[in-house]
Amino acid sequence: MWLNAQMLEAGLSVALDAGANLIGRREGTRSSRALVTGSHIDTVVGGGRFDGILGVLSALEAAQTLADHDVQLHHALEIVDFLSEEPSDYGASCIGSRSWAGTLSGAMLKATNGVGETLSAAIDRMGGDALQLGTPLRSSDQLVAYVELHIEQGRVLESVGADVGEVTGIVAIQRFELVFTGRADHAGTTPMLMRSDALVAASRFTANLSDAARLEAGIVATVGRLAVAPNNSNVVPGSVRLTFEARSLEVARLEVFCGSALELARDAARLESVRLESTQVSTAAPLIADARVRAAIRHAAQGVHCLALPSGAGHDAMQVGRLCPAGMIFVPCEGGRSHSQDEFSTPAQLVIGAQVLLNTILELDRVFA
Ligand code: GLV
Ligand code: MN
Ligand code: MN
Repeated sequence: MWLNAQMLEAGLSVALDAGANLIGRREGTRSSRALVTGSHIDTVVGGGRFDGILGVLSALEAAQTLADHDVQLHHALEIVDFLSEEPSDYGASCIGSRSWAGTLSGAMLKATNGVGETLSAAIDRMGGDALQLGTPLRSSDQLVAYVELHIEQGRVLESVGADVGEVTGIVAIQRFELVFTGRADHAGTTPMLMRSDALVAASRFTANLSDAARLEAGIVATVGRLAVAPNNSNVVPGSVRLTFEARSLEVARLEVFCGSALELARDAARLESVRLESTQVSTAAPLIADARVRAAIRHAAQGVHCLALPSGAGHDAMQVGRLCPAGMIFVPCEGGRSHSQDEFSTPAQLVIGAQVLLNTILELDRVFA
């Protein structure tokens, strides 16, 4: 509601689309095709106040500044708050931007959260219309280019003293759910050699996955979510449901790595005499940032220290980049901390980022005219 009101105040016409994305739009003088900027306002549990939010608020600030100075663009400008960019309770991430690109699969839409609600029902509850999401909500001929401002979520910019980053590409991400099912037994009376301990299997897998990723330059892998049942101190764990993800800029190597990771899970299950089920929850292709958008960002960043770097974090730009030329601008964040309440960038760093975003919008409007 607050964001909706702010968009109206910036002179934008506001709509919620079938993907429950909130869109503020101003028309251009020559073309109805839109330059798009934005990000997301959802956060991970225990996350900070900058991841995603910076991109939405800076987009709003850019629109307000254009209105204040009565600047007309050739193209329409859309400011977008994409629905649920972070991994949702339904498994998939980048829900709103996937709905634009048409990459929300039937399986993703049918996936349920902990209380049995499907993702489709949740999108409808947020004001969208999941029935429309079988095909892309947006087409390439409606969009000119996409640029997203975000905190770096790493420490490269800070370590070299750069003011902004010009993103070269974003890693591919594969995410899986594994369920190890053993047998819940009395922790005092069940001999060690007679147990089917699901948590021991899951732990072996977690450690082996980490060891495997350490041997691979350019690949990271994480077990970030784990539910143990029955989760009692005096019961041998009967089942563990976990998610693991792996990321790399190199898709072919990532595929091979994920195949080996599933093999590690099967080995761990066999060793502990537990059953294993695995499901691929999502896959996101990497983004190679568009050369023209990158050039526009570098032009916009004249006078400040701008460094080219890749992104290990996922972003809505990966999905929108399937539809139109896309790129990203990063600002440094303290100690590279993110997905944590310690996430922080100084007001001065944020102002530089917002200024570069505005300059990039103006430059893209000129370049793509
Ligand atoms: C998004 O924040 C991600 O990189 O998972
Ligand atoms: Mn995030
Ligand atoms: Mn983000």
